Amino acid sequence: MLLITRDLPPDVMARARREHDVCELRLQGPFTPQAVLANLSGVNAILCTPADRFDAAMITALPASVRVIATFSVGVEHIDLEAAAARGIEIRSTPDVLTTATAELALMLMLMAARRAGEGERLLRAGKWTGLAPTFLLGRNVSGKSLGIFGMGRIGRALASMARGLGMPIHYRNRNRLPPELEQGATYHADDESFLGAIDFLSINAPGGEETRHWLNAARIGLLKPGAIVVNAGRGSVVEDEALIKALRTGHVAAAGLDVFNNEPDIHPGYRALENTVLLPHIGSATVETRNAMGFLALDGIAEVLRGV
Ligand code: 8YV
Repeated sequence: MLLITRDLPPDVMARARREHDVCELRLQGPFTPQAVLANLSGVNAILCTPADRFDAAMITALPASVRVIATFSVGVEHIDLEAAAARGIEIRSTPDVLTTATAELALMLMLMAARRAGEGERLLRAGKWTGLAPTFLLGRNVSGKSLGIFGMGRIGRALASMARGLGMPIHYRNRNRLPPELEQGATYHADDESFLGAIDFLSINAPGGEETRHWLNAARIGLLKPGAIVVNAGRGSVVEDEALIKALRTGHVAAAGLDVFNNEPDIHPGYRALENTVLLPHIGSATVETRNAMGFLALDGIAEVLRGV
């Protein structure tokens, strides 16, 4: 029996029902561990999402029949991997298939933030557009500006290749320097100071978790050039909200494009009050092609574990 915590795209649900007896929880909003724990009889696989927290207590409470947890995401920071390993539960995720969609979204956030697209849209919808004017809603070119990528994994590298097409020199920070064939001429920085001082745009494409928590704090924001633009399509936890909001208020950070937040969906209200933010509801991987591919990959992972491959 496969337990699915939330509704997945129809083609994914159809395949899941063909391959398994499925218990569909159809959770909406916050995760309720009780709903999972009350429905585990005969369950040997769980398909969850990043909104569903499988911490050590939750994993310890799972029955011995559960052999695999697949998450409908590339991020796995919502699952206690050590606790799962200790119980012999395999973890599967959905890397690769969402790389392009998420990189496209990061690029869109960069362009929207630089060109004040959110402001323009809100103004037009509010009936406040008074007509063309040479000084109206002036943004910044992206082309020719330096892009700094924090987290040069698959998504960061896909964004780099798109941004090169726009004529943006690429700089990056990463746990390790990449080999030349992956670096593709990007400039590696071994420390935050030289990285943040060299760039006009900062894109966060790093995973969440303790290692990156609140990396973008007041001190590091202070190292950015005045007028830099920040985008985040990685994890909200990488940003210290108060610090970024303060910098957006003073203009030290000219604009931000954010798809991910601390404490989703109850985001810091300070972001909403600012005109120089473009705010999206965590839709980095939300294309039909990508969400289907994610679901199929998660089901492949489950099948592999259950077959004992
Ligand atoms: C979510 C994501 O998976 O993959 C990730 O880590 O954050 C997203 O793609 C998606 O929102 C659906 O759960």
